[in-house]
Amino acid sequence: MTQPVRILFVCLGNIIRSPLAARLFEREVEEAGLEGKYEADAAGTADYHVGQAPDERMVRTAARRGFHYTHRARQIERSDLDEFDLVIPMDLENKTDIEALARKPEQRAKIHLLREFDPKAHGALAVPDPWYGGPSGFEDAYDIIERSARGLLEALEAGKLP
Ligand code: 4NP
Repeated sequence: MTQPVRILFVCLGNIIRSPLAARLFEREVEEAGLEGKYEADAAGTADYHVGQAPDERMVRTAARRGFHYTHRARQIERSDLDEFDLVIPMDLENKTDIEALARKPEQRAKIHLLREFDPKAHGALAVPDPWYGGPSGFEDAYDIIERSARGLLEALEAGKLP
């Protein structure tokens, strides 16, 4: 059997944006009947929240839309850049931090910003970090991540990525 395509979603703390991205991507995979073809995980560039569950504010935002998920925060390691086929940062700071870990061009080539796959990005590059904002930041981030996760799967299925 062919190996699944492995995708690592990356944000700063690994408690708000990237766990949601990984779990919503998995939901898209299931809904498309593509279980086993893709595997998703999430990590943070920072170690602040290692071992923690997702931020309650995003968990509640998702639950209001009927989506329930969990994750345990971990920090990205250099070996992730070999073990995953794609590494998907949420914003430019995450991307720069991951690039600093990379040692080989083939590792760098795996890095793509999530919003490259957002059909409504209108040129925006980042999933804004809702950590310091009000509730609307969580709603906005959820919408962006949901659209982009779907767009990423569509791009993969269309053969636009490995
Ligand atoms: P995340 O959000 O990167 O989407 O998980 C944040 C979580 C924690 C912090 C910042 C952003 N923090 O500063 O602790």
